[in-house]
This record gives sequence, C-alpha cells and structure tokens, in this order.
Amino acid sequence: MTPLPPQRLRCEYLSEPLGVDTASPRLSWQLESPARGDRQTAFQILLASAPELLRSDIGDYWDTGRVETDRAASVEYAGESLQSCARYHWKVRWWDRERQASPWSEPASFVTGYIHPGEWKPKWIGPRQAEAFRSKGTVLLGHQGADDTQACAIYLRREFAVKDRAALAMIFISGLGHYELRLNGERVGPGGLEPGWTDFKKKALYASHDVTAFVRERNAVGVILGNGRHIESYGYGTPRLTCRIEVEYESGEREVIFSDERWRTSGGPVRENGLYYGERTDARVVIDGWDRPGFDDRAWDQAVMVAGYPLAAQMMPPIRVTRRLPPRSVRRLAAGASIFDFGQNFSGWTRLTAAGPAGTEIRLRHAELLHEDGTLNLGPNENAEATDVYILRGDGGPEVYEPKFTYHGFRYVEMTGFPGEPGPEALEGLFVHSDVSPAGEFRTSNELINRIHEAILWGQLSNLMSIPTDCPQRDERHGWLGDAHLSAEEAVFNFDMAAFYAKFLDDIRLAQKDDGSLPDVVPPYLPRLYPADPAWSSAYATLVELLWDHYADRRVIATHYAALKRYIDYLGTCADEHIIRKLGKYGDWCPPGGIVPKKTPVEMTSTWYYCHDIRILARLAAVLGRDEEARRYARLAEAVKDAFNTAFLGESQYAAIRVSPVDNYPNQSSNALPLYLDMVPADLKDKVVASLVQSVARQQDYHVDTGILGTRYILDVLTAAGHGQAAFRMATHKSYPGWGYMLAEGATTLWERWEKLTGHAMNSQNHIMLGSIDGWFYRVLAGLSPLLPGWQAVRVRPHLLGDLSFVEARLDTVAGPVGAAWRLADETLSLECRIPVGASGEIHVPFPWPGARITESGRTLWSGDAPAEKDPEIVPAGRAGAWVVFKTGSGAFRFEVKKTA
Ligand code: BGC
Repeated sequence: MTPLPPQRLRCEYLSEPLGVDTASPRLSWQLESPARGDRQTAFQILLASAPELLRSDIGDYWDTGRVETDRAASVEYAGESLQSCARYHWKVRWWDRERQASPWSEPASFVTGYIHPGEWKPKWIGPRQAEAFRSKGTVLLGHQGADDTQACAIYLRREFAVKDRAALAMIFISGLGHYELRLNGERVGPGGLEPGWTDFKKKALYASHDVTAFVRERNAVGVILGNGRHIESYGYGTPRLTCRIEVEYESGEREVIFSDERWRTSGGPVRENGLYYGERTDARVVIDGWDRPGFDDRAWDQAVMVAGYPLAAQMMPPIRVTRRLPPRSVRRLAAGASIFDFGQNFSGWTRLTAAGPAGTEIRLRHAELLHEDGTLNLGPNENAEATDVYILRGDGGPEVYEPKFTYHGFRYVEMTGFPGEPGPEALEGLFVHSDVSPAGEFRTSNELINRIHEAILWGQLSNLMSIPTDCPQRDERHGWLGDAHLSAEEAVFNFDMAAFYAKFLDDIRLAQKDDGSLPDVVPPYLPRLYPADPAWSSAYATLVELLWDHYADRRVIATHYAALKRYIDYLGTCADEHIIRKLGKYGDWCPPGGIVPKKTPVEMTSTWYYCHDIRILARLAAVLGRDEEARRYARLAEAVKDAFNTAFLGESQYAAIRVSPVDNYPNQSSNALPLYLDMVPADLKDKVVASLVQSVARQQDYHVDTGILGTRYILDVLTAAGHGQAAFRMATHKSYPGWGYMLAEGATTLWERWEKLTGHAMNSQNHIMLGSIDGWFYRVLAGLSPLLPGWQAVRVRPHLLGDLSFVEARLDTVAGPVGAAWRLADETLSLECRIPVGASGEIHVPFPWPGARITESGRTLWSGDAPAEKDPEIVPAGRAGAWVVFKTGSGAFRFEVKKTA
C-alpha cells in the first residue's frame, strides 16, 4: 500500500511562518500510517524559490535526495544560502518500513526575515516630544506604586507608491512598547499587544507581515504606538518605531521604504494608555483618513530619529483575540452602574457598542470579583486601575470601541455613563493571549477533575502574554520564573509551546549577569530581583529539559548549555559545603495559611533545586557528547545530595520548621521533594514515605499542606510510592485547602493562594502555578509520558484511581498523535492507545483482576499469569506492579482485560 503523504509541515515549529531569521531553519512533519510498527526509513525534501518549480518537483534551493533516516522533526535546512525577505516553498515525502515511497506532501512555505547580521540597520523614529499623562503605580513589588509618566498614544504615517505588480510585499516592524499597524485604512496583523516583551536594550522583536495582497499604486502606512513595558520606570523611555517595507516586483526589482524623518506624527484619539492603567479614548479627536492615502498631514509634525535597539524576528505565535464571550448577565445597580458578568475569569478586554450624544463618557472597570452587595470588588487588582474610558463622538450611528494597548484579568465589568440602560449587546468579552495551538485533550468520568482541568486551561492561556506571566489582573503580570517552570509541564501537555518557550529561554539567557546569576523575573524589568531564589531560576534548566523531552530540541540545548553551566557554577560559588543558605527568598511559597513557607526551610528548597538543576545539566552535557562534564556534574549532584541528606535528613523525616516545641509533625514538602528526586538513602526510604503519608492521611486528612513547590511534586511522589489513592483524594476533595475547594467557592481559574481571599492584597484569582496538577492528570490518570525525547518512545501507564470509570487523553506531539483512553466497566477494562509512526510503545495495561485475560483486537495475548498467543507487533514484557507490560511499535491498539471466573 502506498504510504500516506506527510502532514502538518512546520518550519521552526510554526505553520507558514513569516520572518524566519535563521540561516538553517528546522523543518518538521508528521506521518500517519494505518500499518502497525511503521516507521520512516528515508525522506526527501525539496525546497524551491517558486511554487511552479516545486510543482515540477524541482528544489532549486534544496533537494536532499533520498536521505536514509528516521528523523522527521527538526531537520536543519542545509541547501543554498537563503536570501532575506524571500518566500520559499517546500514539500517532503517519506519511505515507510517496506521502503515504499509516499506521494509528496501538500506544499508549505515560509518567508525569511533578515538572516545576516547588519542587513537591516534599523532606524528608529518617534515624535519630537511625546504628549504625556500620569498613571498610577507600575512598579513592583506593586506596593511602592509611585506615579508613572507615560505617553499618550503616538500616531505615525507616511505614504508610498508601488509602481508595478508586487510579487512579495512585506512590512517588518517593531513598535515599542506596543503597536498597531495600518495599511490603506485597514489594520494589519493582530495589533494591540505586539511585539512580545523582551529586555529591549538587549533585543527588540520585529513582526513580519505579508501585505502583498493589500498594496496598491498609492499606499499609506500608519502606526499607532502605545507604552506597554517600554516605559521610563523600567529604564526605557517613550514609544518608538522601526519599520521596513520591502517590495519585490515581478521583474525581480526591489524597493525598500524605511522609517525615517519623512514620516509624520501626531496625537490622536487614544489619550492615555497603560498596561495596568487601562485606556482613555476620546472619539471626538478626529483624524479620519489618517491611515489612507491622500490625507492632508501638513499639520502633523515631522518624526525624529531616536535611539534604538538590536532587533530579532519574533518567531512565536502572536497575541490575539481567540474567543468572544457574550455576557452571562447584566445587572443594574442602584447607583446607575451596570455589572456585566462574563461567567469566566480571563485575560483580555471588552468591545463596547454604544450610541449617544458627543462627549458622553462611558467608563468600564474590570474586576475578578464582586462584593456581596453586587458591586465591583477591585481588591485583587491592587494598584492596577484596569479602567477603559470611551468618550463618544456622537455622530449618530452606533460607535464600537475596543482598547488597543492594555489588557485586564477579569470576569466582571462595571459600566457607567452609558446613555440609557445597556443590554447584553453593549459589551462583548474578548479573550486575548499568545495564540499557542492546542496540543492536548483530556477528559475523565469525574466532573470535578474535568472542571479543574478546564480552569487550568483558562488560567494557562490567561498567563501567556508573550512571556509566561504570574497573573493577568494586578500590577504585576511579570515573568516570575517560579510560576513559569511550575506550570510548564502542564503547558506542554496542553499546548504547542515549543516556539513560545524557545523565545522565553532566550529572554532568560539575555537576563543573565556576568557572574552567572539570573533574576527572579524575566525580562528583568525589576532590576532589584537579582540573584534569584534558586527555586525560581530553576526555570532555566527545567525549561531546556522540558523542550528536550517533549520536542527533542537539540538546538535549544546547544544554545543554552554554556549559559546554564555558568548559572550552575554561579550557584556553586554561593554554596557553603554544597548547601545554598543565602539565595532563598520565597521557597515553598503560598502554603495553606500564608505566603511565606511556614514549615519548609528555604535553604532546603534552594539546595534541592541546586541538585535538581545540576542533574539536568549533567544529562544535557551527555546529550551534547560532553562526557567528561556529564560525569563531573553527576558527581557534583551526588555530593550535593549527600550534603542535603546530612543537613536535612533526620531519623525518619526531613527537616521542618517547628512552630512550637511540641511540633514534631512531618512536613509534606520537606519529604516529598527528596523522594521525587530519589535522594533518600535506600534504607530510610520507607520511613520517609511513611512520614509523608502520615502527614497527608493523619494530620491533614488528605489535604495538601504544601506551597507551590511541594504541590508540583507531591501527587507524583505519593503515586510512585504506591499511594495513588491518597493522591487522588487530595486532588478531588472539595474542602479547604484544595483545588475542589476553589471551584466550590466559585473559581473559574485557579487562585494564587489556597485561601479564599478577596481584599486588596496578594490574592489573585487567576494564577497558574497550582495548575501543575494537570501534568499529573495526563501522566498518571491517562498515563502518558515520553520515554525518549520527542515522544520517540511512549509510555502508557494509566492508574485506576478513585471513582474513575474512564479517562481519555490525546496529544499532538512532534512525533505525531499520541493517545490513551481507558474505560472500566463491571468486569472489563478497555485501553485504547495510539503510538505515532516511528515511535515505540511501552504499554502498561492495568491488571485489576488476578488471573484475568488480556486481548488485543480480539486475540488473547495474556491469560492467567502468562503470555498467550504471540504477536510480533505486541510483545509481552511481563507483570510490573498493577500492570502487564507490552512493547509495541507504532499504531493504534485496543486492549481488553476481562475478569475470568
Ligand atoms: C507573584 C508570584 C511570584 C512571587 C514571588 C508574586 O507577587 O505573583 O506568583 O512567584 O511574587 O514571590
């Protein structure tokens, strides 16, 4: 049978990317095959400068010929040198294990950005003097809240001619803090919160827009600039723009238009804008037609050249509106305000539709909570005003307004000033975040677990704003590294995070100081936060390893290895006989009842992460073939482990802070962490597990007593130690403290704190760090984990826990679709699995009844306690605990376990 053509072609992890600025982009594809045990034995890629060439099977830039390999992900381009700002077309075919060639894939394409250093010497422009306004409090830790001077939105324009038919017209643009790009009266690109946040002095990102279909003979390009993070209090300044319009004519001739003094600039209707502050738009300020050709801009000022920054292409999904939410209800308050409830906490803004007299001021305040009397509770916003104001132009027709350069974290909106009484059609909620594509689906028979999972999805997306943020509502929304790594595994199960995290890892690398230290927050907008708590800066090692495990991304390792090593060596200089005593600040943050860790010593979590990260470094060294370093760091990790045990291990439990002389209770996090890394000496392991279980079962009645660190690991540790049922109880009860409690109290995203707190304080209703539980859902309940990098080997090991009668999960991995679905009925258990082409499967079939029979697609493979019929594609590997293990190649499998009489 002819193999199916490759699918889902990706370049640098993205579909049809624009602005690829690497000389050897990585190409990936996915394979599907109805045959079991299929694998790619060879591929051929053709890459051409024109679609016609590709159609005639000519790869004028690259024809790999037939390459014998099983590699189908991250194949590095190695053809003719790619030109900047050019579109390339490629396709691929593969040979299956029978050495049959597939048809060619559908073609895919990408457009390059600026590949060679110095090719684009950007000129940055801005207004001679930006009009300014004062906004409240954008300096963390929030609470210093000095007033901030920010600029009113800046409008820039210029006209240009396109003299002939364009084969390709591209606009490359970086507008800082944020920009909206317009061409001939239309918005180009998602607008609003682009480009992604970086430490601009080190690197600003440019976006690439294909406008071939929109250019005409006479054109006007317009840009509106907002403040975003490019503000004085973070060490930057007023907004600025660099832009390059490049047109390639069908004749091959090229024309380039830059940002320069020929651009004109003015103020406009957006009078005030700030990320935390909100936006104020006065629609009576009329500059109609400013973004179209022929506008009379003689009254506008000439733009001036300003200092700029190094540039790189933004190679990750943009921030955009992904979903529209109608209000669930609108309630009128006595005071004349209306409260819109969107039924869901989320990040973004609203779209207002209103008509009325000119000058009518409509005010929208955003909040996560209501007070008991139904009024807006702005407490969790802390110093973020989160208020958008729209002043009607009043020319008769309905006016539609959306803010441009702000976002809010909210469920409720209070509207005042609306002419008449607003109905639900007056306001629509827009969910806005980095638009990573979904990669996982998960569902169980337990509704509470499904709801926790749903809340995590909303929380995760609300906290992806070109960086992983801690929260979307208060005046933080920073790249706190602890929050980033604790939620990262859950994120890669649920979404395609490869490009997003690759960008963030670069942000981390650029934030490193010469001494090797890293900050708590990346980009380091808050300069005081060096050196980081090692439990936070562990994000560096953790994310590199995660990208290796899930996407087999060797380039990420090669790019970051040296900096990661410098970071680990830096930690070494801070260690005192291998114990890190001085760097810890937050530790097992936000345990029940408080913010700072009350029982887990901070030296312990710092040292534990030191060990954790050294082990990762040793593993990465081995991947790169640096065997001597791999051994050296493995030895160092051993030494740290020994020192850790000497310092913190007692007779049967690890150290805990004692709150009174009679407090000798074991602490969950203290015991869970070393168990997780298998640091506990073999002869004491049972005792340490017993201490942990004592705390869970007897002292806390199956409740967590962990902060965000312990929470990430405790359910795994309990499950691995054979206490999966205890873990399940912890995950699913509805009382304080726990995930079920949050939902029972009305949460639609997870909270920052285990407590239900609603005041003006650190109690965000939409933090993602406690969402780490979702990784446990996928790995333990569905049972899916990568055994080899990039899911080249898949383990399926579902746990039958609690009242679950089915669990199903599907993942779109770099290797292709992976799935597990199990269902338990009276005396039968079914397990369907999907292993991608080229991968191997290690399928642990749950075996709840001694002596039961296991069939696969009707054939008996296991009976009583021994293998039965032989199948070369499904090889039994014996009993392992509560499972029978089978080794498979790729394919879809349907096992059934039947109780025998
Ligand atoms: C953030 C956290 C963060 C922490 C560090 C908070 O203000 O919201 O999630 O990790 O500070 O201690």
